[in-house]
Amino acid sequence: MSKSWALESGVGGGAAGEVMRAEKLAKTYSEGKMKTPVFDGLDLSVQAGETVAIVGASGAGKSTLLHLLGGLDTPTAGEVYVAGQKMSSLSNSARGQLRNRALGFVYQFHHLLPEFTALENVMMPVMLGGADVKAAAQRAQALLEKVGLGHRIEHKPGELSGGERQRAAVARALVNQPACVLGDEPTGNLDEKTAATVFELMLELNRAQKTSLVLVTHDRRLARKLDRVLELHEGRLRELSLSDV
Ligand SMILES: Nc1ncnc2c1ncn2[C@@H]1O[C@H](COP(=O)(O)OP(=O)(O)OP(=O)(O)O)[C@@H](O)[C@H]1O
Ligand SMILES: [Mg+2]
Repeated sequence: MSKSWALESGVGGGAAGEVMRAEKLAKTYSEGKMKTPVFDGLDLSVQAGETVAIVGASGAGKSTLLHLLGGLDTPTAGEVYVAGQKMSSLSNSARGQLRNRALGFVYQFHHLLPEFTALENVMMPVMLGGADVKAAAQRAQALLEKVGLGHRIEHKPGELSGGERQRAAVARALVNQPACVLGDEPTGNLDEKTAATVFELMLELNRAQKTSLVLVTHDRRLARKLDRVLELHEGRLRELSLSDV
């Protein structure tokens, strides 16, 4: 793809083309004199609708990479573009809005707000985007039904099973129809069967909504189900062929 692609123009969104791009990305954590280099010169491009698994040893930098891609942390060098927007050139509030509109996040632990119901948790990103309560409730309910939680919308996270909580978290990540969902071990806390079900659900929603997925997983069997598998090793991303996964 040519470099002129919408990079500076601010044109972007969930349509065709590239939804996420990292260029010469570097990250070194610094605390006083202690420096922890994680990677240097890392490149990644994710196309609309594409699904990408990121694998690698513990400590390789997978979570660090996802934080940088999601604009939750800033790189030491290099650039991240989300839906055509250069993250480093946005104000904090514009970056927050872009995150809310274009990205969804799923973590190993659900991070649902405990004092709110499943419905309210899923409504929240919609309301942050400016929708009114009724519209937000309708969208949240429709998606909770899609993930098989139509009968649990009034339950608080503490009243849901582990798999149900993770499905609610997936619904929350997808409710704004983001261009890309970033998942850090989204099924890592679930038993094998439930993990496979939640993973399959994400793939179904990817097919239905054309949402790109970038998922960190230790589970090679799940990784194989995605379009590409990239291994983060010694600060580099390497594409694995199916026989290596
Ligand atoms: N805030 C921090 N300050 C200093 N070093 C950090 C910080 N966060 C992470 N690191 C270090 O950076 C490296 C990469 O960490 P990261 O959490 O990205 O690894 P990971 O690949 O996600 O590992 P895991 O599979 O165990 O989750 C590790 O060596 C870690 O010790
Ligand atoms: Mg991690």
